[in-house]
Amino acid sequence: SIDNKVESLLDKMTLEEKIGQMNQYNGFWDVTGPTPSSGDAAKKYEHLKKGYVGSMLNVKGVEDVRAVQKIAVEETRLGIPLIIGFDVIHGYKTISPIPLAEAASWDLEAIQRSAQVAAKEAAAAGINWTFAPMVDISRDARWGRVMEGAGEDPFLGAKVGVARVKGFQGDDLSSPLTIAACAKHWAGYGFAESGKDYNTVDVGTSTLNNIIFPPFKAAANAGVKTFMNSFNELNGVPATGNTFLQRDILKGKWAYDGFVVSDWGSINEMMAHGYAKNRKHAAELSVNAGSDMDMESYAYVNELAELVRQGKVSEELIDDAVMRILRVKFELGLFDDPYKYCDEAREKETIGSKEIHDAVLDMAKKSIVLLKNENNLLPLKKEGQKIAIIGALANDKTSPLGSWRLAADDDTAISVLEGMERYSGNTLTYAKGADVALGETGFPFEVNINTTDKSEFNKAIAVAKDANVVVMVLGEHGFQSGEGRSRALLGLPGVQQELLEAVYQVNKNIVLVLNNGRPLAIDWEDRHIPAIVEAWQLGTQSGHAIAQVLYGDYNPSGKLPMTFPRSVGQVPIYYNYKNTGRPVIPAPNQVFWSHYIDESNTPLYPFGHGLSYTSFSYSNLKIDTISNGTVKVAVDLKNTGTVKGKEVVQLYIRDMIASVTRPIKELKGFELVALEPNELKTIIFTLTEEELGFYNNEGAFVVEPGEFMVFVGGSSNTILEMGFELK
Ligand code: IFM
Repeated sequence: SIDNKVESLLDKMTLEEKIGQMNQYNGFWDVTGPTPSSGDAAKKYEHLKKGYVGSMLNVKGVEDVRAVQKIAVEETRLGIPLIIGFDVIHGYKTISPIPLAEAASWDLEAIQRSAQVAAKEAAAAGINWTFAPMVDISRDARWGRVMEGAGEDPFLGAKVGVARVKGFQGDDLSSPLTIAACAKHWAGYGFAESGKDYNTVDVGTSTLNNIIFPPFKAAANAGVKTFMNSFNELNGVPATGNTFLQRDILKGKWAYDGFVVSDWGSINEMMAHGYAKNRKHAAELSVNAGSDMDMESYAYVNELAELVRQGKVSEELIDDAVMRILRVKFELGLFDDPYKYCDEAREKETIGSKEIHDAVLDMAKKSIVLLKNENNLLPLKKEGQKIAIIGALANDKTSPLGSWRLAADDDTAISVLEGMERYSGNTLTYAKGADVALGETGFPFEVNINTTDKSEFNKAIAVAKDANVVVMVLGEHGFQSGEGRSRALLGLPGVQQELLEAVYQVNKNIVLVLNNGRPLAIDWEDRHIPAIVEAWQLGTQSGHAIAQVLYGDYNPSGKLPMTFPRSVGQVPIYYNYKNTGRPVIPAPNQVFWSHYIDESNTPLYPFGHGLSYTSFSYSNLKIDTISNGTVKVAVDLKNTGTVKGKEVVQLYIRDMIASVTRPIKELKGFELVALEPNELKTIIFTLTEEELGFYNNEGAFVVEPGEFMVFVGGSSNTILEMGFELK
């Protein structure tokens, strides 16, 4: 068995070789050029040749991967192959929608397929391990990394996370078409105070157990091969050195047998956190707490052997970490053939193949959310229209790739303009109106008009005046969300608001196509603009997907996986909040209730919201059977419009009285249903103890009898409700 093979290999290893397996280096030299002869690169190269490196990240492409693998396999004493990691977050070279967008599809099959083709493409380029999925729940749109997760809800987040794990890993990890996945960031990273990346996380037991942990637990149960810990401290202890998270919960209570990799430099960062005295102390704390592999802190490779000799770290613990890592390498089949991911012919035929482009286009269409469509302005007519297309993002072939698309080249996405040209015979006139300016960091993070020349701005007004319909593509550039890109303001960046309002003065027939990596506060837009399409950053096929939706070739069915605020002061805003002791205004003109004096409590667009070109009616809610903690809920859904469409039927519950207060609504079931016009289907949900229970403050999962409410509808603003008693 694999365990026997792991043990017999471990018996042959010196302490230094074992520690080597726990060391991961970033690609540090041009592997097809001369070997490094000085500085850090030379030292790392020496380590690689001695077998003191177990993994590398950011080495990609068959030629490069083969070159580093050859050193590990042919030049080290034991010839243990490397595991090659890479951030395949939403595609490798052919880019699928950002994960938040994919989650908006609520289509688990499509999400799994998207991860599957990403794995196939990455595996063909020599990669065997992705640092995905990110299953951090976040309620804070200011946090730039919300683009990388499945949004605010643990139930949806768990389902999406599992779909991604299954897509990446498949049924057979040893197949050269699959790669190992990584549930990250363990844990709490999405709860950074004030949405500022890497910031302090201080959350209570109930939120940890019921909101933050469930998607990780689901990923562990689905067999995800690795976990990554996180940069943040959690309740005073950095996640990397956190014994409670890594040993007590993950490897203890959940009996997880994969390995945990640190985040980039996060072992060393424990010094800045004020938790470790020096690198040696940091290594001791993190390995004892359960971090098995060191990504780019150089702490394990330099410090661990001495710590073992001094008795500060036990060799059994090192053995445990190494066995976890070796097991994954065996499961990947790297010991049978270390070059199984290094096939030039496969690389050539797979990367950018039609199969992969088709899958990312399918995913992109399914990710689009129709936020508003007054007077059925959409879909647009295909002929006889003069359409003005405005906004720098309409003609951008890089921004739709979004953040985290390390292997994709700039300018490889289909722009909205290209898509619109392909799908219609209309007269299209383009004006960018506003430039995308380069910011200080070299990233194009500010969208500004060219201040020295307002001619583009004026041209936009002129073409808008002359058009039947104006399509404005506005929002965030792909690099305005992602790691390190938190925002304090959630409106349209730069002068885009000004541009939009100026265009609105001359033509009110506007379709606003949003490109963004997070919920935006677009209250003015909602009040004035008749049609709003949430098109996120949709990847390589972006413009085709958007055009198909605008022209009605594809009927949108996406639903928001995160609440849109009216203003940034409402953030964090989420649907599954607690009722409080003062939930409603007790009498007119009272102030002593839970509210703002200058903003409504309600969101702009609730979690689960999304329209279609058809309409649906919900009726006949029934709670059919209640037995032994199992509840059957049935509801009729009818397509009452004139075109076929898909609806995400959502089921929420509320446990009315509990020993730990429960949210006013919790998603506990959903189904994506396709209906022809006039067609009716009865949808049946089964709620078991798993859906009806919760974690109490001792961390125990409990199901408490009593009153429950069930809510069903096409968003978290549900339509039907009914109570039942759980005996
Ligand atoms: O995988 C990422 C992680 O999410 C953030 N820090 C760097 C890692 C490797 O690129």
